Amino acid sequence: MSTSSEHGRETTIVFDELKSLAERVFQRQRVPDGEARLVASVLIEANLRGHPSHGVIRVPKWADGLKAGAINARCAPSIIKETPSAAWMDGDLGLGPVVASIASKLAAQKARETGIGLVSVCRASHIAMLQYYTEALASEGLIGAVMTNTESGVAPYGGVDKILGTNPLSIAVPGRDGPIVLDMSTSHVARGKIVVAKSRGEEIPAGWAIDNEGRPTTDPDAALAGALLPVGGAKGSGLAIMVDLLAGALAGGAVGRKVRGTFHMDREATKGDLFVAIDPEAICGLEVFLDRVEDLKADIRSSRVAPGFNRILLPGEFEMECRQRYLREGVPITADLLEDLRRRADAIAA
Ligand SMILES: NC(=O)c1ccc[n+]([C@@H]2O[C@H](COP(=O)([O-])OP(=O)(O)OC[C@H]3O[C@@H](n4cnc5c(N)ncnc54)[C@H](O)[C@@H]3O)[C@@H](O)[C@H]2O)c1
Repeated sequence: MSTSSEHGRETTIVFDELKSLAERVFQRQRVPDGEARLVASVLIEANLRGHPSHGVIRVPKWADGLKAGAINARCAPSIIKETPSAAWMDGDLGLGPVVASIASKLAAQKARETGIGLVSVCRASHIAMLQYYTEALASEGLIGAVMTNTESGVAPYGGVDKILGTNPLSIAVPGRDGPIVLDMSTSHVARGKIVVAKSRGEEIPAGWAIDNEGRPTTDPDAALAGALLPVGGAKGSGLAIMVDLLAGALAGGAVGRKVRGTFHMDREATKGDLFVAIDPEAICGLEVFLDRVEDLKADIRSSRVAPGFNRILLPGEFEMECRQRYLREGVPITADLLEDLRRRADAIAA
């Protein structure tokens, strides 16, 4: 099952084995069994969907964060303040996916009761791939939106310095044959993709980042020392600013340069997360909404395909096709990471 590449061996592993390895690493750090299973699922879903930067590559850092006490293995998130449609939650420095699942379920419950549920979370660790949560909401017939702010790494439009985070947002809507799921960082790419390129010894495409003097670069080291660029110039920069405020400021968390604990996991997380659920039944009705979703899908698919493209994809389609392929063929992973996971997981039995 292994292959070699110029910059270190790439291999593939079957889904179940990778999930069990990640789960055991978290159990080793005193994370309760069910929560270890959930966190492993969220991370491995990112690998399956072609986003290895937010997948099991995070396991060693998160395990180190748990060991250092910056992440709480046995968190008890609590509600600080609540109305019928809104809540402010303290994540008790727990693993992001554990807190995010609680917040997301609370948003869904409030949406069912009042039409909309909004849960703003402070003091939760990194929540990884956002579509995990929005897609779950959409599969229940709700519209889901999730945002989070991250440690600074992105220059504001026209700037040189790392001020903004990659501040991603995901919106998912239900559809008759599966949801439409948009999930994007507001930087040109997620920072983790540069980390993955560096670990593979690869250059990055032009346009992703600038060096420390503001010059365009394709060197991942220079990019990590410099800054990522926002997606779509001033518009992406504006979106990143709004995500910083809606996810970070609304949660009473940090914004801009003060955000900690999303990349350096030995520091307590200071960012915020926003979970929103909307029940179409409270407005036009689910059936009418689904009709319109299908109308738009059909319109988009009826477009002529531009030169250089084979077909038109909806947001989330690439990820779903990738998932099916990797479930069939195995999940790609670097041999070094696999060895590290095995070593950390086997320490359980030792
Ligand atoms: N938790 C965090 O702090 C954090 C921070 C940054 C990013 N992330 C995660 O990183 C992941 C990757 O983010 P990204 O910005 O690199 O994603 P991306 O650029 O790969 O994709 C962004 C969106 O564009 C869509 N898309 C991609 N190619 C397409 C095509 N050819 N046609 C139509 N749509 C297409 C995708 O389906 C997706 O919805 C996301 O899951 C995100 O949640 C998390």
